[in-house]
Amino acid sequence: MLLLLSSSDNNIVTMIRIANVCLAILIFNTILLVTHTNQVETVPTPVVLWHGMGDTCCNPISLGRIKKVLEKNLGPNSYVKSLRIGNSIEQDAINGFFKNANLQVKEACKQIAADSRLKNGYNAVGFSQGSQFLRAVAQRCPKPPMLNLISLGGQHQGVFGWPRCLYPNIKWCEYVRQLLDKEAYVSWVQDSFVQAEYWHDPIKENDYVEGSYFLADINNERTNNTSYRDNLLKLKNFVLVMFTNDTIVIPKETEWFAFYTPGQDIQITPLEESVIYLTDRIGLRALQESGRLHFLSVPGNHLQFTEDWFLSEIVDKYLK
Ligand SMILES: *[C@@H]1O[C@H](CO)[C@@H](O)[C@H](O)[C@H]1NC(C)=O
Ligand SMILES: *[C@@H]1O[C@H](CO)[C@@H](O)[C@H](O)[C@H]1NC(C)=O
Ligand SMILES: *[C@@H]1O[C@H](CO)[C@@H](O)[C@H](O)[C@H]1NC(C)=O
Repeated sequence: MLLLLSSSDNNIVTMIRIANVCLAILIFNTILLVTHTNQVETVPTPVVLWHGMGDTCCNPISLGRIKKVLEKNLGPNSYVKSLRIGNSIEQDAINGFFKNANLQVKEACKQIAADSRLKNGYNAVGFSQGSQFLRAVAQRCPKPPMLNLISLGGQHQGVFGWPRCLYPNIKWCEYVRQLLDKEAYVSWVQDSFVQAEYWHDPIKENDYVEGSYFLADINNERTNNTSYRDNLLKLKNFVLVMFTNDTIVIPKETEWFAFYTPGQDIQITPLEESVIYLTDRIGLRALQESGRLHFLSVPGNHLQFTEDWFLSEIVDKYLK
């Protein structure tokens, strides 16, 4: 103020000119901002992928390929993040077998929250066990929001059986299989083997409810964590894909959230007749009644689908 008072007329004119230039810059910037905002609106919703057991974030013939297919079909500004748990691809593969699932979910939540490109929300596609892990992310970590969740062959009610060791080159496979049959709910086994954390023994249903570190928790078997339900209900769509000739996931109906009727391992109770649905303790019934729970089936074995099917039934319908 003092400076202005002591200025000559010339100086005042100069100042007005400067002010005009400033105003012009301001308007110009505003136009840029508006243009920029318009561009932001055309960016497709980003996608987060989580691989299955025995796979990694970046295998060029599995998730690496899916990432490329998505990037190509979602457009030039698309962003696809394939979660890697651990500091290297090798560690990511090992963690899929041995890292406590709750800690894996925690790490995924951290990575997702730290990624500024996901801050407005994202779609999620899980492969096999990656599906139930992403569901845990939706239930435990609502920020940023997960919009659509696609579960490809996920084990939402767990597994009971390991028909054959899929990884014949891995010598501990057979040992783990026998261990799970006998002692899945012993705490050191829960802590050490990811598969134990979603091992669901229908004959010892109580042992499962009390002993399963991961699955019994996210399915609200032990405590009624109402935030799990509230958060799952924030999804726009939850898509459950079952592979009708799946010989790897036992029973395959777990991919549609159904499981053996407790007490035996032959008869399956359909989801709509099961306690988790009837009491609606995680929100599946509410999702179904609002038309947001979808059941798809694909003929073929575990995770065997064509690119055409993926594009027309998943990408076009839920990811665009
Ligand atoms: C419910 O889950 C959230 C997220 O994992 C957790 O922070 C909270 O402590 C849980 N509440 C209860 C009552 O267990
Ligand atoms: C869980 O808690 C909520 C809030 O107290 C209650 O409305 C709901 O009925 C409970 N659900 C189950 C399955 O116990
Ligand atoms: C599924 O399994 C049935 C019975 O084993 C078989 O006849 C059919 O060819 C299989 N279909 C596919 C797509 O694998």
